[in-house]
Amino acid sequence: MSEIANTDPEGVDGVRMTWNIWPSTKVEASKCVIPLAATISIIRPHTDIPRLPYSPLRCKTCTSALNPFSRVDFTAKIWICPFCYQRNRFPPHYSQISETNLPGELYPQYTTIEYTVPTVSLDPASLTHSQAPPPPPPPVFVFVLDTCMIAEELEFAKSALRQAIELLPDNALVGFVSFGTQVQVHELGFSDMSKVYVFRGTKEISKDQILDQLGLGRVPQKGLAQGGPGGFVPASSGVSRFLLPASDCEYTLNSLLDELQTDQWPVPPGSRPARCTGVALSVAAGLLGACIPGTGARIIALVGGPCTEGPGTIVSKDLSDPVRSHKDLDKDAAPYFKKAVKFYESIAKQLVSQGHVLDLFASALDQVGVAEMKVAVERTGGLVVLSESFGHSVFRDSFKRVFEDGEQALGLCFNGTLEVNCSKEIKIQGIIGPCTSLEKKGPSVADTVIGEGNTTAWKMCGLDKSTCLTVMFDLSSSDRSNTPNAANQQLYLQFLTSYQSPDGQLVLRVTTVTRRWVDSSVSTEELIQGFDQETAAVVMARYASLKMETEEAFDATRWLDRYLIRVCSKFGDYRKDDPSSFTLNPAFSLFPQFMFNLRRSQFVQVFNNSPDETAYFRMLLNRENISNAAVMIQPSLISYSFNSLPGPALLDVASIAADRILLLDSYFSVVIYHGMTIAQWRNLGYQNQPEHQAFAQLLQAPHHDAQMIIRERFPVPRLVVCDQHGSQARFLLAKLNPSATYNNAHEMAAGSDIIFTDDVSLQVFFEHLQRLAVQS
Ligand SMILES: *[C@@H]1O[C@H](CO)[C@@H](O)[C@H](O)[C@H]1NC(C)=O
Ligand SMILES: *[C@@H]1O[C@H](CO)[C@@H](O)[C@H](O)[C@H]1NC(C)=O
Ligand SMILES: *[C@@H]1O[C@H](CO)[C@@H](O)[C@H](O)[C@H]1NC(C)=O
Ligand SMILES: *[C@@H]1O[C@H](CO)[C@@H](O)[C@H](O)[C@H]1NC(C)=O
Ligand SMILES: [Zn+2]
Repeated sequence: MSEIANTDPEGVDGVRMTWNIWPSTKVEASKCVIPLAATISIIRPHTDIPRLPYSPLRCKTCTSALNPFSRVDFTAKIWICPFCYQRNRFPPHYSQISETNLPGELYPQYTTIEYTVPTVSLDPASLTHSQAPPPPPPPVFVFVLDTCMIAEELEFAKSALRQAIELLPDNALVGFVSFGTQVQVHELGFSDMSKVYVFRGTKEISKDQILDQLGLGRVPQKGLAQGGPGGFVPASSGVSRFLLPASDCEYTLNSLLDELQTDQWPVPPGSRPARCTGVALSVAAGLLGACIPGTGARIIALVGGPCTEGPGTIVSKDLSDPVRSHKDLDKDAAPYFKKAVKFYESIAKQLVSQGHVLDLFASALDQVGVAEMKVAVERTGGLVVLSESFGHSVFRDSFKRVFEDGEQALGLCFNGTLEVNCSKEIKIQGIIGPCTSLEKKGPSVADTVIGEGNTTAWKMCGLDKSTCLTVMFDLSSSDRSNTPNAANQQLYLQFLTSYQSPDGQLVLRVTTVTRRWVDSSVSTEELIQGFDQETAAVVMARYASLKMETEEAFDATRWLDRYLIRVCSKFGDYRKDDPSSFTLNPAFSLFPQFMFNLRRSQFVQVFNNSPDETAYFRMLLNRENISNAAVMIQPSLISYSFNSLPGPALLDVASIAADRILLLDSYFSVVIYHGMTIAQWRNLGYQNQPEHQAFAQLLQAPHHDAQMIIRERFPVPRLVVCDQHGSQARFLLAKLNPSATYNNAHEMAAGSDIIFTDDVSLQVFFEHLQRLAVQS
């Protein structure tokens, strides 16, 4: 059942929580079953967020920023920090403040606020003209193009690159690396003649070797301390040779692309081409590290097949050796997997330390190693798009969106850091989502780790308008005076995100939120009202996915079932051992269905997909906002017919009817499904006859709505248009509740459909659930 959201559930702050009223002790929290977690869309734009042209005041003991929840003594010019109760004196330039003359950060509605700090330029050239404010650093893109493809695919990829180069702002710095059996770094500052540096793909190359070969290495200079700044050739020499402003190298790049051929290395029959993706990424990372460490830059990799050469190899060259499946991973029969992951982990580490991002565009019919490369994409906050061809709209339209300006822009930002502060009873277990721990210990670090943990600060080399992170919390077990007293009824969380915006400005965004503690050992009534079932479902999906990846032999279905039964036993109303008496408060009523769909989803039923697909789905599950992630778990279904306005339909096979069109949004694909009669009329061309205008409109409506979804979404979803009983209908059927199967087909109304499956239906699932929940 899709809830049509009419309000913005994230609000100005972009924060949602599993529980909006918190149990006050660790023991009570564990009885709540669903963990305490907050998701935050860290830089989601909002018209009600002001930008202040100065830096925030920080508490002198805990460093949290001044915020609307601080208590202010206007006469004494003192503010009291809600996190640590420290009294802070306002500095002299705040001497004019009063109840009627508040600075922006104290307005009660500005719980989220942005500060811009003057831009620091890293362009060494600008240091010489000292007066004018330095220009913001330009965005930097290094394209890494696989050439082990059939000519047709390479043409698609090249044409996407040409378009990207045209869309780039003139000042953007561009670099180009191509690879196949070997890696070629193209020197773009050389317009008359193409100059290429070639690297062998067979062996891991050290950073120093890469730099030496590119002529960017350490120049031994006598008398200078090793590693001192004088020990290097100035970075700008690398910039002028390998990274050029788009406006200066467009011609060179285009002619280079015109000449670029598919990899010419001979491929013996029965073999895969030798493709050295790992070395190529290593070289690109080394190049960026030498030229512009610390400045936002992206490696944009277009990969058309698996790495088979050198470090990062995911499969042998022998075609009779298939790429690892989930079964192989399960049985520990994927001999390349762990070593490859380790290699891409080292790439991730290097990129994070340099502040650079890896974006992965994988297009191939078979797997290319997204599962192994995931770590490098996710830890750097990179984008990922998986499609079956560089000619497919999923790749083509998504790739274009990366470079587009204006309303549709992704809002790509760089150099993000998130710090989280919280009231002293609260401990942070970690973050699930696109970031890396900065290993900053603090009093609020929990002992147990979930995701990127053991820290209160995280790095996001890349982040954008839609980046959403999940922070997992625990409560302190130390005995505070556990009943909330008057002074201590509220808890506070503060999220401080600093980043470089697309226009080059340094921004610090501060979100401070408060929630109420409740003593749930007395009554759970209040607690229940604060439950957010959609957020809870998404957090459980993320948590289960993480456990499936990190815990050996983890049985997600059983784990989810156990959680759901415990939730129903704790929060349901029933008489013991009487399933028929069971009812669930409306605050929980959608949750079992979410869990039912989660159990059937691609996140839990991984064996229906390849490890690359699973990795892809999970990366997006972890980085999208709650509404989008909820659709991945439980698709939305809209029905169109003559008799009624378009409206939500049950996600059930019973919603299929001969005279209906259905629009299914499962996030990764959008399906338009025509009932039999509709399809017949369409095949007869009724829509082209003037007297059947209403039919033409009915046919058009779902297409219009599908385009609205597709236009807003990144990656662009696959559009499937199909008819009842057609082969593509499986894209819809796989997502529907099998209330009608061949086991009970005789009960079904005419014109509906049945699903060939042994899966239990929602109704049977509910019956089991009720029986188990009421068991004493
Ligand atoms: C990156 O972010 C850090 C932490 O906010 C900041 O100190 C540094 O100056 C930033 N670097 C650039 C190049 O913007
Ligand atoms: C707030 O965050 C900073 C930086 O992560 C940390 O040093 C400090 O201890 C935190 N304070 C609280 C009260 O969490
Ligand atoms: C947390 O970090 C410390 C070092 O800072 C380390 O000794 C400890 O093992 C880490 N704990 C976990 C659970 O990773
Ligand atoms: C979630 O993200 C999509 C874009 O990806 C956006 O259109 C939508 O408004 C967001 N939802 C919320 C509640 O912020
Ligand atoms: Zn403080």
